Amino acid sequence: MNYIGVDLGTSAVKLLLMQADGKVLKIVNREYAIDFPHPGWSQQEPEDWYRETVAGLKELLDGSDKSEVAGIGFGGQMHGLVILDEEDRVIRPAILWNDGRTAEESEWLNREVGRERLSAYTANISFAGFTAPKILWLKKHEPENYARIHRIMLPKDYLAYRLSGVHCTDVSDASGTLFFDVGNRCWSQEMCKICGIKEEWLPRVFESYQAVGTLKPGLAVELGIPASVVVAAGAGDNAAAAVGTGTVGDGACNISLGTSGTVFISSGSFGVDGNNALHSFAHADGSYHLMGCMLSAASCNKWWMDEIVGTGEYAREQGGIARLGENHVYFLPYLMGERSPHNDPDARGAFLGLTMDTTRADMTQAVLEGVAFALRDSLEVARSLGIQAKRTKLCGGGAKSPLWRRILANALGLCVEVPEVEEGPSMGGAMLAAVACGEYRSVAEAAQRIVRVKDIIEPESGLAALYEERYRQFREIYPVLKPLFPKLQPSNE
Ligand code: XUL
Repeated sequence: MNYIGVDLGTSAVKLLLMQADGKVLKIVNREYAIDFPHPGWSQQEPEDWYRETVAGLKELLDGSDKSEVAGIGFGGQMHGLVILDEEDRVIRPAILWNDGRTAEESEWLNREVGRERLSAYTANISFAGFTAPKILWLKKHEPENYARIHRIMLPKDYLAYRLSGVHCTDVSDASGTLFFDVGNRCWSQEMCKICGIKEEWLPRVFESYQAVGTLKPGLAVELGIPASVVVAAGAGDNAAAAVGTGTVGDGACNISLGTSGTVFISSGSFGVDGNNALHSFAHADGSYHLMGCMLSAASCNKWWMDEIVGTGEYAREQGGIARLGENHVYFLPYLMGERSPHNDPDARGAFLGLTMDTTRADMTQAVLEGVAFALRDSLEVARSLGIQAKRTKLCGGGAKSPLWRRILANALGLCVEVPEVEEGPSMGGAMLAAVACGEYRSVAEAAQRIVRVKDIIEPESGLAALYEERYRQFREIYPVLKPLFPKLQPSNE
């Protein structure tokens, strides 16, 4: 049988068709727009997600034996707020994970409810991108929209709803709402009360590898696949990527270099970082994980190449980079503010150390290095908790650059393993569908049987030492600039 993974990303939906044994038959990408109505805000139209997903499914299935399709699973951008009225109409564009408009509401939660109580209810504190502060923002700034709420869902759950008619979510994605009790894998009644959420607005919670239902008959006919096709709950994109790269079991690590950059550490048991600098979320394999998330990772390089340098030739541009570890230019990658570990929606990007002999290649290099150093910030938090990761899987668009892989291995001091299939979340979505259909007994079994590593990049001792020194300098920059950032904000008028 065949399984489909749908990764509802920020820039595009990525669809993957997988045979039961893990062989990838086809991959399709379909882009959609992202709207930045104000600096630091970001939103998207759920209808665009659905339209491109259905078009993508048709393209994916074209030329294959459609009767072989048994299941569909998801990976999806996390934390986004999708709200529907009582006639199932989307009330307003979805507010995304990297939208910083809720800084005030997030601060209010951390201050007035208090970090300790939040952490006791949900295993996390508030960050501007999380879903709970978005509800508070809506209540205050768009009371007419808040009054119409009949259903709340996360981005990929909107797709599951349109595909199956079931109002569902999964434990990993629910973890990022801040109204989910992660330790007990259920909605938090206390947090629902605090945020003004009626429990009947919320979706039913499934484990990521469970079936929520089957395809709507009309859609099955439109796509030409059996109406018995199982729709699996799927997972937030990071947990799905972890499944797709085989990051399951205690201590396993995955780094995702997509629009966001994440350091994901799988854990056999529930645990909370005492300072809540790392998120403590449920994993898609039935266990838990810790995660640091930076808001702009591969998107910094995309911005630098597309908007500033003005080229689509990323590899050629990187070809001009000659000396690793010796760059005198630093780049702060906080183009959308920063989540982990600074929790600072006001933070902004910066180049530092420019001189008359600085070249375009130096600046390109600084962008790649700045992202690596910011990921290291999260890794250092994990290390301070006693987590001794020596190796990591790597996935996401940025992982395709051999140079960036080498920079990461040396700047983080980790052995970087690149899986044969680099499409982490869509692969993970397909694997979760296979488990939901009984093809594998568990996520761990699917990962063990399917995932293979194709390339290993070891840190090089001389280069890692040079990067150690540069990272120490990088770390000093943000605290110095921090007091300046709020003064750089445009007015909201
Ligand atoms: C994770 C996070 C991002 C998005 C990106 O907490 O906000 O990784 O899921 O799609």
